[in-house]
Amino acid sequence: MTTQIPTFPHNDFAQNVFGRRSIRRFKPDVKIPRDEMIQILAEAGRAPSSMNLQPWRFVVVESAEGKAKLHDQVMTNTPQVETASALVIVFALAHPEHNAQEIYDAAVAQGSMDQATHDRELTEIAGFYGHAGEVPRTKIIGFDSGLVTMQLALVARAHGYDTCIIGGFEGPKVQAAFAPGEGLIPQIIVAMGKADEAGYPTVRLPIDEITTFA
Ligand SMILES: Cc1cc2nc3c(=O)[nH]c(=O)nc-3n(C[C@H](O)[C@H](O)[C@H](O)COP(=O)(O)O)c2cc1C
Repeated sequence: MTTQIPTFPHNDFAQNVFGRRSIRRFKPDVKIPRDEMIQILAEAGRAPSSMNLQPWRFVVVESAEGKAKLHDQVMTNTPQVETASALVIVFALAHPEHNAQEIYDAAVAQGSMDQATHDRELTEIAGFYGHAGEVPRTKIIGFDSGLVTMQLALVARAHGYDTCIIGGFEGPKVQAAFAPGEGLIPQIIVAMGKADEAGYPTVRLPIDEITTFA
């Protein structure tokens, strides 16, 4: 099974990683075409996840009505809502095991997993989540959401867009207004568009201060 590797419009990895800064004001008239947004999200979704359960769901807020609703739920992050082309709300399934059957069946169907492995893994997943309490679930879905979010930020750059990852929002309100189904918890919002400011350089702790070898 080979994976089709796309070529990005802005394919310079170093530029995408080191040129990325959080952008909080975007050019307000830019629209991200629907096809491209779908492609960006699919590429972000190549991120790894625990047991490959991909607990994330995306809600793309791009309409004036959607933005107006979100505006009052984002604390000090209103400039991003006002100017971004789109704000992707990353939701996570409280029960990621609900994705297992579909994903593992598809792996067998595409020939990348044999039936015995499929059956063993599904049993393992059911066993693990059958006993997992809320704390490990919350940790796993938060971790997986972080991975897809970072990949989204980098893929967006590879398409020529900038981002601001936004954790400052009122979770219960965002959940009530935007959750695309039951059992979906908002994790983070990613504002996306064409930068209308340079952003500012930020400090990183010295690597030798935060690294030890054992
Ligand atoms: C989980 C998370 C939550 C964040 N929440 C906000 C936020 O609510 N508002 C904001 O302006 N920036 C937010 N940021 C952006 C950080 O402030 C920013 O990534 C950090 O200062 C480093 O700057 P850089 O992204 O330009 O490298 C968040 C980043 C992360 C990873």
